[in-house]
Amino acid sequence: RDRPLVLGIETSCDETGVGVVRGTTLLANTIASSMDEHARYGGVVPEVAARAHLEAMIPTISAAVATAGIRLDDLDAVAVTSGPGLAGALMVGVGAAKALALALGKPLYAVNHLVGHVGADLLRDGGHLDYPTIALLVSGGHTSLLLVRDLRSDVELLGETIDDAAGEAFDKVARVLGLPYPGGPHIDRLAAEGDPTAIRFPRGLSLPKDMERHRYDFSFSGLKTAVARWVEQRQDRGEPIPVEDVAASFREAVADVLIAKAVAACTDLGVPRLLLGGGVVANARVRTLAQERCAASGIELRIPPLSLCTDNGAMIAALGAQLIMAGHESSGIDFGADSTLPV
Ligand code: KG4
Ligand code: ZN
Repeated sequence: RDRPLVLGIETSCDETGVGVVRGTTLLANTIASSMDEHARYGGVVPEVAARAHLEAMIPTISAAVATAGIRLDDLDAVAVTSGPGLAGALMVGVGAAKALALALGKPLYAVNHLVGHVGADLLRDGGHLDYPTIALLVSGGHTSLLLVRDLRSDVELLGETIDDAAGEAFDKVARVLGLPYPGGPHIDRLAAEGDPTAIRFPRGLSLPKDMERHRYDFSFSGLKTAVARWVEQRQDRGEPIPVEDVAASFREAVADVLIAKAVAACTDLGVPRLLLGGGVVANARVRTLAQERCAASGIELRIPPLSLCTDNGAMIAALGAQLIMAGHESSGIDFGADSTLPV
């Protein structure tokens, strides 16, 4: 198949994403988010997310198909995220994709969410992805460093967070500072007014002894605790909290360790390319540090548009199309959702 027409379904977290692509051409990228429903809990509630996917699924498919200007019968295949992610949320997408593929008599491709994030980059610049590339994927649900030798067959997990995801740390620190959920954008905004060197917060897993065993792993729970303790001590002394400085110093610690480890992976492994993905890529400091350090090390930096960085169905469709073009067999319908699916 030359340029297969694929519909992709993504439900690994709180976004119901349905995308349509033809080969590497983006035709639709429709998202329904249950973010607002989770706000009062300060984080994504799996049960709430699963119910929201169920309600949003058919309208989101209809909207994507209308935007793409196609008929479902024209599809060459359906692709779906089968993991990793929230089990109940994944099951809704997998169930919908199976039903759609069966009803239409089309092949179904089960794909990995993290690899999908890498596939997102194919949907711009005429669908080009140079290999090998290092991918840093940072969202509320994951913080992973991948070595991608071939998107369709050879992706290696170099490291990941051993506790909180980076976005989760942003959301938790925002809570400490009394900011609404999701807190990442609020911290980013406040940080712009603060001094990033005001407070020296810890860089997780960056000490020489940690760099031996956890060179490409991340840890943000110690940082979150350090910020909470710093704020509490101030409050106990009845002193005002310099919210902007705390935000800026915290943001600096996260961005520093993310980009330091990603650039180290590029340098260690001789890979002159770094691709970013996930919602935390919206962060202004993460972007500038990546730009500065990649330029200094001769690394080509690729950042897809934000609508393709956050969770979406188009990246899943794009990966499905890649598998078809590489001649991979479909997944059948005898697979389940796997919340811990490895890359
Ligand atoms: O990829 P995404 O939209 O959804 C999932 O996590 O699945 O990422 C959302 C996460 C949230 O934790 C949010 O606080 C964070 O990304 N985020 C940011 C920024 N914008 C969103 N974190 C830091 N700075 C930002 N500007
Ligand atoms: Zn994601």
